[in-house]
Formats: sequence, C-alpha cells, structure tokens
Amino acid sequence: MRKKLISVMLTAAMTASLLAGCGSEPAQESQPQETTEAAPEQAPAQEEAAQPEEAPADNGELPILGAGIYSSTDNFNSYIAKAITGASDGVFQVNVDDGQMDQATQLNQIDTALAKGAAAICVSVVDITAAPAIIQKCQDAGNVPIIFFNKEITDKEVVGSYDNLYQVTSTGGDYGAAIQGQMIIDYWEAHPEMDKNGDGKLQMINVMGDPGHTASQPRADYVESTITDAGIEIEVLERDTGMWDTAKAKEKMDAWVSKYGDEIEIVVCANDAMALGVLQSVEAAGFNLEGADSEQYIPIIGIDALPEMLEKIESGEVIGSVLQDASTQGKVIVAIAHNVSQGKDPLDGLDFEFDTDGSKAVRVPYAAITAENVDVAAANYTE
Ligand code: GAL
Ligand code: CA
Repeated sequence: MRKKLISVMLTAAMTASLLAGCGSEPAQESQPQETTEAAPEQAPAQEEAAQPEEAPADNGELPILGAGIYSSTDNFNSYIAKAITGASDGVFQVNVDDGQMDQATQLNQIDTALAKGAAAICVSVVDITAAPAIIQKCQDAGNVPIIFFNKEITDKEVVGSYDNLYQVTSTGGDYGAAIQGQMIIDYWEAHPEMDKNGDGKLQMINVMGDPGHTASQPRADYVESTITDAGIEIEVLERDTGMWDTAKAKEKMDAWVSKYGDEIEIVVCANDAMALGVLQSVEAAGFNLEGADSEQYIPIIGIDALPEMLEKIESGEVIGSVLQDASTQGKVIVAIAHNVSQGKDPLDGLDFEFDTDGSKAVRVPYAAITAENVDVAAANYTE
C-alpha cells in the first residue's frame, strides 16, 4: 500500500509539474502532501497493474469523464483524444467517443455519458450551433461541468449562459496564422529563389479549413495580412477550402498543380492534414521529391505540427508548420474537469489563465516549427 501511495504521489507530482508547463524544474517529491490529496485514493499507478500480487488497476472505480471528438478522421482531433486519454490515467475512466461528423450521434453519446453519471463532459462539437443543446443536457443532469475544446464556441451569450462551462483551445484572433505568415516572410528573405518569376510578388495558393470552423477565415486572412504588412506583395492564385482533409486538399491541388505548375511560389495550408495532401499532389507531379534540394520545388507550409508532418519538415519536402499543442490542451482539459468536479478552482495547479474576452477559454500558445527545431514538436508526442 505504501508503495502504491508513493507511486500515486509521484504520478501526481509529475503531472503537476508538466501542467505547470515548466519542464525546467525537476519533478519531485517536493510537494507530495498537496498532490496526494489531488489524486483519488484508488488511483491505480501503471506499474502496479503489472504486479500479480496486487489488485489489478481498476479504472472502473474512477469517476467518468464523458469525452468526445467531432471526428476520428481528423488527425489533430485524434491527437487531442490521445492526450485526454493519457492525462486521465488514474484520474478518470474515459473512452473518447467519435462523433463521426454527425451532431445527432454526438448528442446521443453525451446522453449516454450523462446517464452513466459522468462527472464532467468535454467535447469538440460537430457543429458549434449545437452548444446550447449540450449545455441544456449538462444542466438537466445536475449542473455537470462542460469543457468545449478545439471547436471554439464564439457566441459569448451562449458561453455566458452556463457557469459550469469552460473552453480549451489555442491562441485566438489569428489562430496561429501570424506565426505562419512570419515563417513565410523569413523563408522569402532567406531564399531569394522563392520568387521564381522575379516579379517581387509572392504567387500564393491559400488552402482553407472548413468554412464553418472558427479558425478557418482568420487563418486564411491573417497569413496574408502578416505578409503584406511586412511589405511583400501577394498574388493569390487560388483561395479555396480543403475542409481540413488530406484527400480533399490533394484533389484540389491536383487541378492547381497542372494549371499553374512551377508558377506557384507558396502553398499555405490551414492545417497539416491538408498540407500532406498537397504534398502528395506536388510530388506526383514531380516536385519536392529531393526535399529542399529538389530542382523543381513548391514551398508548402501547414499548421498543427503533427508527427506525420515532422518527417516531411526534416526532409525539406515542406518548409514548416506551426505547432498546435494537443498534448497540453489534453492535459488542461482533464485538469479542469478534475478540479471542477472536486469543487476546486478550475485552474487550480495550472499555469494558465482564462482569456478575458468572455470566451472562458484557456488558450494554449502556438510555436513555429522548422527543420531546425522539429524536436520541440516531437517532444509533444512522446509523453
Ligand atoms: C483546427 C486544427 C485542424 C482541425 C480543426 C478541426 O484547430 O488545426 O487540423 O483539427 O481544428 O476542428
Ligand atoms: Ca513571384
């Protein structure tokens, strides 16, 4: 039992230090008192499960976290789901539901979780206009806390209508696109050959996300305004949606690469899933095959810094991405759910604050990722 308690304390202390976002401070026994309290008594430590003489880990005794993503076909959402599952270890029993891009399906999943007595609900909604219906369900079930993540609820009235509502997402306003724009400016300055036709302008294809998504329009606009504000003129060859999706982006790019070919000086993608589809398309047309040394090269940039993108950044097949920190978002979601269900301050033990814009959102910052620092993004997926 003593051993069990110690490993629970260590797990809790490690989690606390990760959540504090410091990494620089050694994770340790310095505050075992406080962290022990935060960990449910029956919290199973992973190592314990392997020891036959001990009772097996029983997540079934832990409170339920009713979690869901809008679609498991969305790479980035799947990484948040993994992060939620990982952060729930020893804290909640959780099985992240796949909303299958269908709001009715997701509402049923929420009903089921509430009927099972979920201590909190956390979802990336299929359709942000369904937020009031979800809030109503949580309220009717006894003021169950709800945490919206990834798909931000932008209607402040809706957000303000329920005290037990929180949001976890990334930096608002430009949603990472100002960093993306700055990366393009840096690349343009470092690579004069980027201006293939020498006209001083940047011939751009701008591949947008799902138009119904909060971040889509801002990302498309801010990447362009950041570049033009720096005095670089843009000629937009195409600006169209790839719906966050690899196959859809590839299909569009197939047509554009045959129409414009080597006239394209940058393909900006609002996420990595689409950037990977665009890459498939340009490689099929003979571009980028030797990475940055390719004779025929179309610079491509994304957002999210998914693991499958990092190898393409390292090889130079794409110029970079903007890390959207799924791992920290998952930890913050679980910590808020845990704190609130224990009657504590939602941000207890977290090194984050709510945005003051009425969104009740914790906004996890983005970071630029190029071949020089892929390890920063990779570290995000190894915990
Ligand atoms: C964005 C993310 C996209 C996609 C989208 C779906 O934040 O960058 O890759 O996951 O959310 O809501
Ligand atoms: Ca040019």
